[in-house]
Amino acid sequence: MTTYLETNKQRFLDELLELLRIPSVSADSSFKGDVRRAAEFVRDKLKEAGLDNAQLYETPGHPIVYAEKIVDANKPTVLVYGHYDVQPADPYELWNTPPFEPTIRNERIYARGACDDKGQFYMHIKAIEAMMATDGLPCNVKVMIEGEEEVGSDHLGLFVIEHRDMLKADVVLVSDTSIISNETPSLEIGLRGLSYVEVQVTGADRDLHSGVYGGGVANPINVLCEMIASLHDENGRVTIPGFYNNVTDLSDEERAELAKAPFNLTDYKRDLGINDVRGETGYSTNERTSIRPTLDVNGIWGGYTGEGAKTVLPSKASAKISMRLVPNQTPDEITDLFTNHFIDIAPKGVTVTVTAHHGGLPYVTPVDSIEFEAASKAFEDAWGKKPIPTRGGGSIPITALFEQELGIKSILMGFGLDSDALHSPNESYGLFNFYKGIETIPYFYKNYAELKQ
Ligand code: BES
Ligand code: MN
Ligand code: MN
Repeated sequence: MTTYLETNKQRFLDELLELLRIPSVSADSSFKGDVRRAAEFVRDKLKEAGLDNAQLYETPGHPIVYAEKIVDANKPTVLVYGHYDVQPADPYELWNTPPFEPTIRNERIYARGACDDKGQFYMHIKAIEAMMATDGLPCNVKVMIEGEEEVGSDHLGLFVIEHRDMLKADVVLVSDTSIISNETPSLEIGLRGLSYVEVQVTGADRDLHSGVYGGGVANPINVLCEMIASLHDENGRVTIPGFYNNVTDLSDEERAELAKAPFNLTDYKRDLGINDVRGETGYSTNERTSIRPTLDVNGIWGGYTGEGAKTVLPSKASAKISMRLVPNQTPDEITDLFTNHFIDIAPKGVTVTVTAHHGGLPYVTPVDSIEFEAASKAFEDAWGKKPIPTRGGGSIPITALFEQELGIKSILMGFGLDSDALHSPNESYGLFNFYKGIETIPYFYKNYAELKQ
């Protein structure tokens, strides 16, 4: 195995770079053809790695890539999940090198999708290839790589339900999360859920002269800002009635356990270029970004934003708002609470609409399971260190669906770093992480096959 990985190192990287050159931006329909090209590339690589039935499954959106290798019906089956779609790359001008021309600098691959998730799911294809080419697969493997994760996995739910038998497995293995640092490996044991809404505040039926009408009518931007500002209190808590009703508070022991993860506030602030952190009173930064629910404006617009000054009261103002959820909040419940409250607090003189976008349930992996043990031990085997269990702040809504529809748990064996700039300009992925991931994954299969006996 070690020899195989060493000998094929450069080819593994070259293939990843080729995949990174395909701009598979799922959100933007002008990239539709590129998204498909990425799917075909993944299918071909699964085939070349030696998997069977490698094919694309069409959906009303982007295709799902699937392949499998059943070596022995008595062996456990691992379902690998990942996504070949990426976030839009703009603003392009902030990239030091173009997002779809992968460049290697300081032992890092710079490209959109380098870490999220092309660099990470590709490690699985190479690890599977390496296992098959050397000692053989200790488990059966099914690989499902989707193309709509970054836009809410709208069509994956139905696909899973319609292909329950084909996808039957014992565990889902996902590399789409982060570790604490390359010196401190960790395993995420939880993800937050998501409720995403768009709001619009409308005043007069047209834009107005800000001198002639200013002061006499509601300005939708002023109103929207007041309404948004009122959504947090002075302790950084969300003011929507009922927002915290279903939040499961962690016990002191659980909080103490999570607090063992090393965290350096000075480094954190320096890395982000901020002079202080801010959030809910009574919780650490790590807790605020993982076990606590949040509400954040992701975008806000309205009125005149062009060059120079235009004196105008806008007719409309809008914002996109994300709420990260924790167990046992649900997106449906929270979206309803938000909608009712936001309409409730609208002053006279404007009308407000709320539109729900995608959402997803939070997820927690049990640590007292064979699955977790196999993953934890895989890190020990490859890194010589036990990984620290952490709760993550991001969302992979499909993990809750796998549990619901397939009755199986997901292991979040990610190898990225929070500083890899996912979704931001200059996203990157360390060569160390790419290769170390390929080395760690086969240990999971080996450990899982042994523990599952
Ligand atoms: N890979 C991320 C999620 C993630 C990143 C989890 C880092 C933990 C650590 C995933 O691709 C993602 O971006 N998910 C979206 C949710 C989706 C519904 C758009 C997110 O979290 O915003
Ligand atoms: Mn991802
Ligand atoms: Mn993402």
